[in-house]
Amino acid sequence: MRRSDTAMRGLDGRPRAARDGGAGNISAVAVVVVTMTTIGIIGAGNIGSQVARKAIESGYDVVISNSRAPETLADLVAELGPKATAGTAVQAAQAADVAVVTIPLKAYENVPVQQLAGKIVIDTNNYYFERDGHIAALDNGETTVTGMLQKHLPTSRVAKGFNHITAADITADSLPAGDPTRRALATSSDFPDASAFVTKLYDEFGYDTVNIGALAESWRVERDRPAYGIRQTAAELEANLAKATRIV
Ligand SMILES: NC(=O)c1ccc[n+]([C@@H]2O[C@H](COP(=O)([O-])OP(=O)(O)OC[C@H]3O[C@@H](n4cnc5c(N)ncnc54)[C@H](OP(=O)(O)O)[C@@H]3O)[C@@H](O)[C@H]2O)c1
Repeated sequence: MRRSDTAMRGLDGRPRAARDGGAGNISAVAVVVVTMTTIGIIGAGNIGSQVARKAIESGYDVVISNSRAPETLADLVAELGPKATAGTAVQAAQAADVAVVTIPLKAYENVPVQQLAGKIVIDTNNYYFERDGHIAALDNGETTVTGMLQKHLPTSRVAKGFNHITAADITADSLPAGDPTRRALATSSDFPDASAFVTKLYDEFGYDTVNIGALAESWRVERDRPAYGIRQTAAELEANLAKATRIV
């Protein structure tokens, strides 16, 4: 597991210093990257709306969608203000520089594939068989929740994010970097630039990051593991991830 505080690569996966002509330009360019990024959010419920609030507060534009017509999101978009628009899931995926998928897991095969090709996709989803129905490959421990989305989106770079924090806490638990009690959240991806982006987003939202590494290990932060749902610092999260056992 790797703990990190800053993303070292831009959205195109290239090191910032190399792309931008030298370390002296990093902070100025980082601001440009943030303000030019549109986050496409697929799912506008508890988590989708909270991620939208923090994303806008952090300077991003947001296109948000649900399973119905964009008009049904009029109240949320009015609350979010001029940096937010509503669209269909396909439109949110198309507009996204980076996407967030935050829907009941049972609907994951409806997530648009083509419009997310080549993009970083953050997966907040969890498996609740009571809601999603039984999925044998998860019950048997053959795959992971985010591994399933990565398989569905073979041309995207999927990273786990925001799956083990209660929605209301996303806006309530933020703290500045360096606070010794700052809450930490886990990420996991097979693509380092995708986990680096989640790390950057967590930091902007007010959270430290613990990087679990490859998706094959991401079960460590799934439902019912020690790290799931509780408030913890980076050191505590690392310890909880280490003591997780594979429940089959
Ligand atoms: N709630 C939490 O505290 C929490 C915390 C961490 C992770 N999670 C996980 O994150 C995911 C989202 O949770 P949530 O609580 O935000 O769920 P939620 O409140 O039930 O919202 C789900 C959203 O997904 C939309 N949706 C469903 N199918 C869709 C599709 N095919 N295309 C586009 N949008 C679709 C729904 O739209 P409609 O309204 O039109 O149906 C709704 O806006 C779940 O997997 C959950 O387990 C939840």
